[in-house]
Amino acid sequence: MKIVLLGAPGAGKGTQARLLSESAGIPQVSTGDIFRAAIKNGTPVGLEAKAYLDRGALVPNEVVVKIVAERLKEEDCAGGFILDGFPRTVAQAEALEGICPVDLAIDIAVGEEDLIRRLTGRLVCKNCGASFHRDTTPSVKACEHCGGELVQRPDDNLETVRNRLKVYNEQTAPLIDYYRQKGKLEVVNGERKVEDIQGEILKILQSGSRK
Ligand code: AP5
Ligand code: MG
Repeated sequence: MKIVLLGAPGAGKGTQARLLSESAGIPQVSTGDIFRAAIKNGTPVGLEAKAYLDRGALVPNEVVVKIVAERLKEEDCAGGFILDGFPRTVAQAEALEGICPVDLAIDIAVGEEDLIRRLTGRLVCKNCGASFHRDTTPSVKACEHCGGELVQRPDDNLETVRNRLKVYNEQTAPLIDYYRQKGKLEVVNGERKVEDIQGEILKILQSGSRK
């Protein structure tokens, strides 16, 4: 199954993609994670991407598309993949059609007030990138997956979060209609417990029409 997870910053794309990857046995391909790793390693892509991530703007389409095209050629993607954070513009979605058309796009719908609360309180594992939250997972002091240190993402300050939401509304939200028109869209209510959302996603994937 080739799946795109759509949703605003903070909607839970990363949280759901990680769980789905574990249960479905297909890789999570997160462009945000790829850029953060490149920044950490000081690669040329990382040096170029940093200024965009720091202000919550989109990295240019041609840079992102090239990275995704290469990643999807890797052997572990042969049996399917979960795209988390890509595509983010109609131009990226059209490029993806040329690389590897997807079967389904799942939009995780969450209102803006919740998104701001989630992002400004989020803690991420410095090592594997897993997400936690100061208020909803206050007892978690180290990463539950790998024991790594939990830190705030540099783009999770209020000013950058507001810009990320603006960029999402202007450039990424049109993808909801893009996939609806292709008959490939499912929308899930993302304002519920993580496990309930995951349950609904699994039900969608298991339903006959989506096999
Ligand atoms: P990216 O890393 O993709 O960031 P994003 O889209 O802003 O999304 P987030 O990762 O912030 O949120 P999420 O939906 O994954 O939520 P999460 O599960 O963590 O991109 C970062 C940057 O990279 C971009 O700004 C851009 O510069 C660049 N970039 C990336 N892709 C690009 C592309 N294709 N083109 C151009 N540029 C690109 O959850 C958030 C919080 O909520 C956590 O604390 C979590 O614990 C909590 N939470 C999750 N689910 C729930 C729930 N059900 N109830 C309560 N809390 C929950
Ligand atoms: Mg994410």
